[in-house]
Amino acid sequence: MPDPRFDPDLIPRHIAIIMDGNGRWAKAHGLSRRKGHEAGGERVREIVRTCGEWGIQVLTLYAFSSENWSRPAMEVKALMFLLRDYLQQEREELNKNNVRLMAIGNLERLPKAARKELDISMEYTSKNTGLILNLALSYGGRDEIVRVVQNLAGDCVEGRMRPAEITPEAISNRLDTAGLPDPDLIIRTAGEMRISNFLLWQASYAEYYATSAFWPDFSSEELAKAIAEYQRRTRKFGGLESGEE
Ligand code: IPE
Ligand code: IPE
Ligand code: MG
Repeated sequence: MPDPRFDPDLIPRHIAIIMDGNGRWAKAHGLSRRKGHEAGGERVREIVRTCGEWGIQVLTLYAFSSENWSRPAMEVKALMFLLRDYLQQEREELNKNNVRLMAIGNLERLPKAARKELDISMEYTSKNTGLILNLALSYGGRDEIVRVVQNLAGDCVEGRMRPAEITPEAISNRLDTAGLPDPDLIIRTAGEMRISNFLLWQASYAEYYATSAFWPDFSSEELAKAIAEYQRRTRKFGGLESGEE
């Protein structure tokens, strides 16, 4: 059920979140960065539940970028262990809540153990019809677009496609997000005002919302504020508002 505070006709279909600030949250609490990521994981559990309850169709969470591989090996390892544990521990809960798990990004780069849990959870929840939880893992918008271009170029060279058939739809259909609606609302926590290689193609007309809250402090109340702000925006998609001349 959408929360009664919201206009039911203006619920974003697809919310995408750049979950930033785990490290700064940890520092502010005198904790290790790993503890910050653990606290972030707890927040993921809550926000997934809330989005399901509020009737959001798709929630994309930017969990690990293609550039995050350049972090110290210890931190990367801790994040991959956390991911593996999350996938293992949450499988049953996601399924119970009718959540379907999907993933975007260069999944080949994930360590075997994490990849295996991801595959099991995606398969296990594949028939669910509620919220789609879409995890961006080893994801970069440029990397995704390069893979699409390689794929299209291959088809053209092999004669399966003519260059003139490369349309926006043809590109969308080959992105990792094929079949999902573009994000309506992109939220970034921890105060940064940048896109950091997230959903570059898909974000073309998304509404952007930034909050100074660190991700581990991003409660359902904070999400409600973002949705309320989204509902006050006027989306124009390059045209004019109805009634405007
Ligand atoms: C976000 O928190 C989590 C990932 C990028 C994996 P950060 O680790 O980027 O936290 P800050 O930016 O250092 O505070
Ligand atoms: C963006 O956060 C990536 C994720 C949230 C997974 P970063 O912390 O990696 O972004 P930058 O480095 O501040 O741009
Ligand atoms: Mg960061």
